[in-house]
Amino acid sequence: MMGLGLKDLIKRAAEDLKRAKHAIALSGAGISTESGIPDFRGPSGIWTKDLEAEKRAYQSYERFLEDPKVYWEERLSTPSLLGELEETRPNPGHYALAELEKMGILKCIVTQNIDGLHEKAGSRNVIEYHGNYFKLRCSKCGSRSGVKDMDLGKLKREEKLPPLCKCGGVIKSDVVHFREPIPLDAAKNSQEEAWKCDLMLICGTSAVVYPFAQLPRLAKKHMIEKETKTESGLYLIKQVPGTTIIEVNAEPTPLSEEGISDYLIKGKTGEILPGIVQEVKRLY
Ligand code: APR
Repeated sequence: MMGLGLKDLIKRAAEDLKRAKHAIALSGAGISTESGIPDFRGPSGIWTKDLEAEKRAYQSYERFLEDPKVYWEERLSTPSLLGELEETRPNPGHYALAELEKMGILKCIVTQNIDGLHEKAGSRNVIEYHGNYFKLRCSKCGSRSGVKDMDLGKLKREEKLPPLCKCGGVIKSDVVHFREPIPLDAAKNSQEEAWKCDLMLICGTSAVVYPFAQLPRLAKKHMIEKETKTESGLYLIKQVPGTTIIEVNAEPTPLSEEGISDYLIKGKTGEILPGIVQEVKRLY
């Protein structure tokens, strides 16, 4: 939007949210940087600073398939690239989305983040598209459990890695690695949400990783019929995009550049999202 200042865009987003019947949010690492967790591709992102680390990350899933024991030995001996996730706390951006859910406006969050901060902030309906760092998942039956439910250190000491599920399948981290299929439940539920939403609030993602980045494009395809009156008094039925797509991000992304998003509110999610909640409250 040319010329519209930050305050006007925040006001516009609040009006769009209030009018929406089924608003959802999508989030990426950008919403967690104000909690002290580095993102991946921003100016001080993990991949920005260490391309080798990204290349190694691409090997994780192959390693698991080739030799799950080695995968687990490596996993248990290397600290997470994201830092001490147990200690991290939600920031005002997470709390703002949780508040929009409590107000009955936001129906769901589809997050790429594995840090669990949306739930810690009180959001209930969260689809963890890339899994959760604190969970385990069976590679055969898909059942999930908490990392604390299993004494992985003991299994390692007793040479009993990899952990096995009751179904006999090999258990891995719930985190979805590059080239690993998105778990069926997350894939199905997020596609349904992207298709049926009439507002998508996309917070803190560079929108370059697929298949997640397909979700806004899917939402954009959701057309609805709109009646318009011509000068001659005729009524025309036109097909128009049925979903308003709003980006809140520190920088433009392919979504803004390709016109998938209707407008970008440029800046920090930790400041903009609480501003939107404040404006929504003013409208009631
Ligand atoms: N407020 C708004 N935007 C921010 C903030 C902030 N406080 N901090 C960073 N950003 C922006 C960055 O400028 C960048 O555009 O958030 C975006 C984060 O993009 P990425 O680092 O690429 O993170 P994400 O999009 O979540 O990455 C997707 O890639 O590495 C894989 O699986 C990993 O889930 C991750 C996926």
